Amino acid sequence: MKLAFIGLGYVGLTTAVCMAYRGFDVVGVEVDDEKVEKISRGIAPVKEPKLEKLLKYALSRKKFTASTSYRDAVKADVFFITVGTPSKPDGGIDLSRVAEACKHIGETLATQEKVATVAVKSTVVPGTTRTLVKQKLEEASQKKVGMDLNLCVNPEFLREGAAVDDTFHPDRIVIGDDWGRGGKILTRLYKKFYGRKTPPTMITNTVNAEMIKYASNVFLAARISLINEVANICQRTPGADVEEVAKGVGMDRRIGPHFLRAGLGYGGSCFPKDVKALAAFAKGLGVEPFMLESVQKVNDNQPYKAIELAGRLVGNLHGRKAAVLGLSFKPNTDDIREAVSLKIINKLLEHGCTVVAYDPAATENVRRLLGNKINYAESAEECIKNADFCIVATEWDEFRRLKPELFKKHMKKPVVIDGRRVYDPAAISEKAVYAAIGLGPNKT
Ligand SMILES: NC(=O)c1ccc[n+]([C@@H]2O[C@H](COP(=O)([O-])OP(=O)(O)OC[C@H]3O[C@@H](n4cnc5c(N)ncnc54)[C@H](O)[C@@H]3O)[C@@H](O)[C@H]2O)c1
Repeated sequence: MKLAFIGLGYVGLTTAVCMAYRGFDVVGVEVDDEKVEKISRGIAPVKEPKLEKLLKYALSRKKFTASTSYRDAVKADVFFITVGTPSKPDGGIDLSRVAEACKHIGETLATQEKVATVAVKSTVVPGTTRTLVKQKLEEASQKKVGMDLNLCVNPEFLREGAAVDDTFHPDRIVIGDDWGRGGKILTRLYKKFYGRKTPPTMITNTVNAEMIKYASNVFLAARISLINEVANICQRTPGADVEEVAKGVGMDRRIGPHFLRAGLGYGGSCFPKDVKALAAFAKGLGVEPFMLESVQKVNDNQPYKAIELAGRLVGNLHGRKAAVLGLSFKPNTDDIREAVSLKIINKLLEHGCTVVAYDPAATENVRRLLGNKINYAESAEECIKNADFCIVATEWDEFRRLKPELFKKHMKKPVVIDGRRVYDPAAISEKAVYAAIGLGPNKT
């Protein structure tokens, strides 16, 4: 089976090279020619554990090629649409890239006799596949879905920072099909890919498959906002610690321990835009999305809890030197889309602080965005040197491993605001003035 991936971002490139690694012939089509040039040289344009190694392997075995031309994908049996679906200014979903991809796939298929399958992997609002996608494909290909063209939805659940592992070991596969054949072809493809370890596979209609993706993301985002709200209450409750509370809550099997880590809120390219998109979709249907709006409200405010804590510990922030540890929206990635660190840095600058930042992977991306508005350190130790206070904004393991005495040794005054609960309060409090999200004022 020959496969084509349209859009070589986090999802497209990762899935494409994993498929190629397992022996499929894969072509990746990408509009950004710089990306294609890099990928063709074996350089992953995004930092993702194991991705570059797999890419190099797939290229060397000639199982994967990247191209800017849809014509190079003409022989594909299955086309996966993996282009971005960003937010529009009103929060609704921008489907222009999906429409564009469908047009080009359709034109490519118009020259072919065989019945190909198109699978929508991009996150799209319910109903998109049976309306916009179907219409664009049929128009451009002069074929009919369900007759000489198969169409299905196959939402993606991988997490950045663990994208390769998630592709090889997903919890489940969801396939939406309204016409019957595309879903069967995809099921066969995944049986070949996973063999005896094929994950539970759910087949449903396209609308449900699209909704499952949104519902999954808003559930996860809601858990984060809920535990963050509990954290904010704990923070003002003498003796409370949200870490202990979450541990106890997570032992309840009806709740479970995942996604109960309080912090500075979620960021990234998925949760913020997907919560907004589902809320806008709901409003369009006349449904008031009370929960979704609250989830967003808590999350929008959460990064500023770090500033609040800094103010509590050092007083007036004007003229202070702030060290920010962590820039990427989560560890093990260089992605800074909707990163909490950026909101914190901008607020610190508004308060008149000078800011020094360090991240193991994302510094260059932030430098492109903020330039010389802030300073960039080459290491965590350099970052905290002579700082008045330090905010941990991303939970990289590297920060977890920093010895408490280093804050005492390097900082002007050792003041640590732990936005991601990476330190043991008892151990660090011996060496530094310490405050953390969800940690109550024990002394009052
Ligand atoms: N990033 C994640 O963790 C993740 C996880 C699950 C689902 N998703 C969903 O998957 C989709 C892709 O996300 P991503 O993070 O990989 O996006 P991305 O922005 O990293 O990559 C999308 C790529 O598509 C390319 N592109 C745009 N229009 C194109 C076209 N017409 N033809 C060919 N290429 C085109 C872009 O240049 C870009 O490289 C989104 O709908 C997203 O919501 C993302």
